[in-house]
Amino acid sequence: MNLILMGLPGAGKGTQADKINEKYNIPHISTGDMFRLAIKEGTDLGKKAKEFMDQGELVPDEVTIGIVKDRLSKDDCKNGFLLDGFPRTIAQAEALKQLLAEMNQSIDYVIHVDVPEEKLVERLTGRRICPTCGTAYHVLFNPPKQEGLCDKDGAELIQRDDDKPETVKTRLSVNVEQTQPLLDFYDAEGYLVKVNGDQEIDKVFQDIQGFLEK
Ligand code: AP5
Ligand code: ZN
Repeated sequence: MNLILMGLPGAGKGTQADKINEKYNIPHISTGDMFRLAIKEGTDLGKKAKEFMDQGELVPDEVTIGIVKDRLSKDDCKNGFLLDGFPRTIAQAEALKQLLAEMNQSIDYVIHVDVPEEKLVERLTGRRICPTCGTAYHVLFNPPKQEGLCDKDGAELIQRDDDKPETVKTRLSVNVEQTQPLLDFYDAEGYLVKVNGDQEIDKVFQDIQGFLEK
């Protein structure tokens, strides 16, 4: 199954991607995670991406398209993939379309996780992530069993640099502007399905499964 998860920052793409990956064993490809790993490793890609991410702006298309192209060419994507946070611009969507055609692959669903914008600031500023395994928690909505520690590996949770209130504002406005044209693009191609992301995490997942098992 070839899937794309779309939605504004904080809509729950990463949270649902982990669940889809766990249940269906489809590789989870998050451009945000790839950039964060590159930053941690101090690579040239990381240095370049950090300039933009710290401001809440998008990383330039040519950089982003390049890393996705490399990733999709790996063997584990032959039987399916789950893109999270890509594409984010029409140029990226066009590049993906061309790439998939070259790979003789196509998209099954573009799942739009829809959450009203006003709910997202609270989700983002309350998010805490595990620096070791990347799992996202929320101080109110999805707290770990032991305060401040990852359920899976006990690592101390941290806040993402771009989840500070000043950056969250820019991220939301940049993404609101980019998202609607992309939704229109995939709607016209016939791949778009919408789930209500403003429900309990497990309920959102149930609704996604409803599409995947149709
Ligand atoms: P990226 O890492 O993709 O961030 P994002 O799109 O801003 O999305 P988030 O990871 O913030 O949110 P999410 O939807 O995954 O929510 P989550 O599940 O964590 O990108 C970061 C940056 O990298 C970008 O700003 C850009 O600079 C760059 N970048 C990445 N891709 C790019 C691209 N294609 N082109 C150019 N630049 C790119 O959930 C959020 C919180 O809410 C968590 O605390 C969670 O526990 C909680 N939560 C989740 N679901 C629910 C629920 N149903 N109810 C209550 N709380 C919930
Ligand atoms: Zn962890």
